[in-house]
Formats: sequence, C-alpha cells, structure tokens
Amino acid sequence: MHKARIKGMGFYVPENVVTNDDLSTMMDTNDEWIRERTGISERRWVVPGEDSTSSMGVKAARMALENANMKADEIDFIIFATLSPDYYFPGPGVQVQEALGLDTIGALDVRNQCSGFVYALSVADQYIKTGMYKNILVIGSELHSGGLDKSTRGRGVTVIFGDGAGAAIVSQSDDDSGILSTHLHSQGAHAKELALIGPATSRWVDQIISDNDDEDVSYFPYMNGNYVFKHAVTRFPQVINEALKANDLSAEDISLLVPHQANLRISQFIQRTMKLRDDQVFNNIMKYGNTTAASIPIALAEAVSEGKVKKGDIVCLAAFGSGFTWASALLKW
Ligand code: ACO
Repeated sequence: MHKARIKGMGFYVPENVVTNDDLSTMMDTNDEWIRERTGISERRWVVPGEDSTSSMGVKAARMALENANMKADEIDFIIFATLSPDYYFPGPGVQVQEALGLDTIGALDVRNQCSGFVYALSVADQYIKTGMYKNILVIGSELHSGGLDKSTRGRGVTVIFGDGAGAAIVSQSDDDSGILSTHLHSQGAHAKELALIGPATSRWVDQIISDNDDEDVSYFPYMNGNYVFKHAVTRFPQVINEALKANDLSAEDISLLVPHQANLRISQFIQRTMKLRDDQVFNNIMKYGNTTAASIPIALAEAVSEGKVKKGDIVCLAAFGSGFTWASALLKW
C-alpha cells in the first residue's frame, strides 16, 4: 500500500477586491455589521468574463505544479470540487484536462460544497494508496459572485461569499509524511437549510420562466444562517476529534488547523472548544470571504507559502457545509 502526500499547493484569487463599503453601495449593509458577524473585511469577485470557475482552477493548478516542481503531463488524474461550475453539465474537470493539454486522462467532479476539497482529497488518497494513479491534481474552485442576490433581499448570504481557487498535487510519498486519515460525513435531513434549489430538475426551468415571478428566489442560494452556525460549531470539533483519535493524537499535537473559512466566528468557536493556541489555527477569511470548496486549499497554500507549515508538522483540515456534509483530513507534512 502506498502513502499519499501533498507535493505542491497553489491558489488564485481574482484581482478585483470588493470591500464591505463597496457592498453597502449595492444593498443595505455596512462594514461594522459584516465584520462583527463574520470577520470579513473584503473578498475577491471576478470581473465578469475575465475568469470562470474552471479558469481560476487552472491558474491555481499551474501554481501547484510549479511548487511541486512538476510538469502538467505528469498528472494522471483530475478531481475538481465546486458548487459553482461554469456549466450545469459537464463539470469543470474536463475543462481543466483540456486547458492543461492532458491528453485523455480521467476527470472526476465532486459536489460536496464547503467540504468538497476534503472529500476530493480523500478520493485522491484512496487512488494513490491502491497504486491506480501516481500524481493527482485536486482542485477546489468557486465563482460565487455571478450567482448571488446583490440586493438588500440577499444581504444575509451575499456578504459572506467570495471567488477563488486552490489546488493540490497529491502524489505517492517516499517517506512517512502524507495523509494519515480522512473522515467523511453527511446528513441530508438538513439539505434545504443551505441550498440553491432551482433551476434544477426539481424546479423546472420552463416553469420558472413561465411563472416569471419577481419574488421567486429559488435560483439564489438560501442559507438559514443561525441553524448552519449551530450545526457547524458542533460538527467541526467532532470531526477533528475523530481524526485525532484515529491517529492516537490529541489537540496539542496539531501544528496547524486549517478550517474551512465559513465565518471567523465559527473558526474562533472551534479554537476555543479545542483549546488551541492562535498559532495553531490559520484564518484568511478576512481577505477572501467564504470561498466554499476553494477555502481550504487557498488557506493551506497561503499557510505553506508563509512558512507556517514545516516538514513533519501535523496539519488538520476540517470542513462543514451544505448537505449537510462535513469532513476532516489529518496530514503529516
Ligand atoms: N447587513 C446588515 N444587516 C443584515 C445583513 C447584512 N449583510 N444580513 C442580515 N442582516 C440583518 C437581518 O435582516 C436581521 O435583521 P432583523 O433583526 O431586523 O430581522 C439581523 O441582521 C440579524 O440577522 P441574522 O440572520 O439573525 O444574523 P446572524 O447574527 O445570525 O448572522 C450570519 C448572520 C452571519 C449569516 C450567521 O448566521 C452565520 O454566520 N451563520 C453561519 C453560516 C455560515 O457561516 N455560512 C457560511 C456558508 S456555510 C459554510 O460554509 C459552513
């Protein structure tokens, strides 16, 4: 059995910075409310037409390849996690295959929202372990800005989300470093508490068009914020502890926790519950907002580039979000 490790990380965020003050020109909101409730000061939104979910993924992938000191043609499989694909179908994995000129290698799309990257990493881990693939490109990318309600009606959701992409090259490890374990969960009973219901096969597009109803918000994301918050602060520590227990480790052994950047308050809650020091938790939601499947790979790539992750460190990734789905991964760097 082989061991899988992350050989290189990369990320890309659009240049266009949208501050809380910018948002207050579009809707009834303000910098103080947003910072107090979410910790977010600004986020990146694409300039329409300049970037897409797949193109941002490709840019993050190129940086990950460079950091792994690898050429694109060494990649033998692609896994792409997103809730905001360029097209309803096909998913963006095939667009990355084409853009990187990767002949006809397999491309798999993962739809697990905020925990999408950890799910994707878990899939990559299994393929590397069995020896089926040697170098897998794992991407998390989201373009939220094109699908948000930018009127006051959508303010409870819209202020939270940002655009961006992160990528990892997952390869066979030649020492004891690598992915120690991954832990995946879901609970569909809460599916509608954080969801975008239509247009989809449960919400026929021709019906939406013929209804032509200004009040129909089913094509914008819906979030029961308080409800999500309460579940998140329970599930995060649970799934982190599950990973620690599986590896006979405790919270003190975590060198760096990289939680999904859902809301700074959620990260702070987890930190308190887990009794972690400031230097054990990485947050960058202040600059980028919540980028869903991209948030963990963006944060991990930044942490690595800032020298916050060293060889031998125990790194914990953890996520919770729409589905509900939640997951963790414990890595020895
Ligand atoms: N600006 C100003 N006022 C606002 C805004 C805004 N952007 N949004 C909502 N409000 C108002 C509401 O209308 C409400 O006004 P009212 O009291 O007059 O009715 C008031 O502020 C309070 O609204 P709540 O929704 O109760 O605010 P809450 O304190 O719950 O904060 C928030 C909302 C930040 C979304 C919070 O519930 C939260 O963080 N939830 C966790 C969900 C999360 O992090 N989701 C991220 C995506 S999911 C994931 O990645 C895990």
